[in-house]
Amino acid sequence: MINEHGSQSILVSGESGAGKTETTKMLMRYLAFMGGRSGTEGRTVEQQVLESNPVLEAFGNAKTVKNNNSSRFGKFVEIQFDKYGKISGAAVRTYLLERSRVCQVSDPERNYHCFYMLCSAPPEDVKRFKVGNPRSFHYLNQTSCYEVANVDDAREYLETRNAMDIVGISQEEQDAIFRVVAAILHLGNINFSKGKEIDSSRLRDEKSINHLKIVAELLMCDEKLLEDSLCQRVIVTPDGNITKPLDPDSALQSRDALAKTVYSRLFDWIVDKINNSIGQDPDAISIIGVLDIYGFESFKVNSFEQLCINMTNEKLQQHFNQHVFKMEQEEYTRDEIDWSYVEFVDNQDVLDLIEKKPGGIIALLDEACMFPKSTHETFAQKMYQTYKSHKRFSKPKLARTAFTINHYAGDVTYQADYFLDKNKDYVVAEHQALLNSSRATTPSPDGNIEHDRTTLH
Ligand SMILES: Nc1ncnc2c1ncn2[C@@H]1O[C@H](COP(=O)(O)OP(=O)(O)OP(=O)(O)O)[C@@H](O)[C@H]1O
Ligand SMILES: [Mg+2]
Repeated sequence: MINEHGSQSILVSGESGAGKTETTKMLMRYLAFMGGRSGTEGRTVEQQVLESNPVLEAFGNAKTVKNNNSSRFGKFVEIQFDKYGKISGAAVRTYLLERSRVCQVSDPERNYHCFYMLCSAPPEDVKRFKVGNPRSFHYLNQTSCYEVANVDDAREYLETRNAMDIVGISQEEQDAIFRVVAAILHLGNINFSKGKEIDSSRLRDEKSINHLKIVAELLMCDEKLLEDSLCQRVIVTPDGNITKPLDPDSALQSRDALAKTVYSRLFDWIVDKINNSIGQDPDAISIIGVLDIYGFESFKVNSFEQLCINMTNEKLQQHFNQHVFKMEQEEYTRDEIDWSYVEFVDNQDVLDLIEKKPGGIIALLDEACMFPKSTHETFAQKMYQTYKSHKRFSKPKLARTAFTINHYAGDVTYQADYFLDKNKDYVVAEHQALLNSSRATTPSPDGNIEHDRTTLH
């Protein structure tokens, strides 16, 4: 970089569990060592860059079948260097956090690490944040896996807080973050039963009422407003707004949607905070980028998340093919180097199948989402028809909604059942209004109540 004055990027690829994240951390440690300022006191940029890793892993990694510390988001870290070749700034960009995990986990996987850390926090924090045994929370007890081999969640909690200190997240902000984490756990314990009116719902029992109270307290919003935002929808019509009750099933979906929205906004907030705190160098001479994404995945059941993850890997594979095989070999030929040509499988056809506009799977899905009458079955039928003779696409025998793609790394069968809902995935207006109304009020030194800027809107 210094000799040739060129910015570079390092792309770390491999399937889930291969060691991408660990490799990325080694790369970053090496760059921090080479580009660090020896003898600098206090928090240096390179220290902050390194400590951003445990913070992001606490909120974006989870135990999966393939990997006890699987990244459930993509990350591109841009390390900036000044004219002396010293690190002068950094920026972290993240991609596509797996939101569904917050509300839905199955054996032998876990939810995001931060939930278990908070439940194992020192007693005063457990009390303060009103958490407790992870087995008592629906979002954690859908799976019987609570512990990860060789991981001490209690210690990780303290280490995450320590890393947050170094990264530049204040104690008040850390408390606000964990308040939100706790609120999500309690939100998951709110249940509904049929209400008085047809197709309406109400809180099921005392327990649910209690959890709702705690959520409202932790999120610093009004209890009634929270309940309404879960049990009702406002429909905008030309003649004014109509409030429509939701049946218990829809209320549960509304609850889960709120949990996912809050968690993904929390994650984005943390990333923004890290970026603001580390700071970018507008005068940087060059950068080294490091890309660490989630690896190729093939589970027993694969859904929209896996399609997105595998499409990303397919794209990176294409990039790799382009550079390593096509371009390098063309150069060898140009230079008349005696060279036996390495065959490689071009995966452009898989990419076209998934992302071509119009005609690709994503385009068909977007189209299906625009028709109110579409179901996952009509969407699947449309795919079966459209790709009948596509080499990379097949329909498993007897399948009604499943389809198989022949990826560069192997065949993966996807279940199209929740594709439409997952692709729509918008923020409910009522939820947004509820969260905007959150007011964190703390007494100021002179006794007046003032607005606390650390609320995570
Ligand atoms: N260089 C290494 N030395 C020792 N152990 C390693 C090394 N690299 C990886 N591992 C082990 O493998 C595990 C998985 O590695 P890592 O989390 O880096 O995988 P990944 O490729 O990022 O997977 P994912 O796509 O699921 O995020 C680590 O938790 C660690 O136990
Ligand atoms: Mg990883």
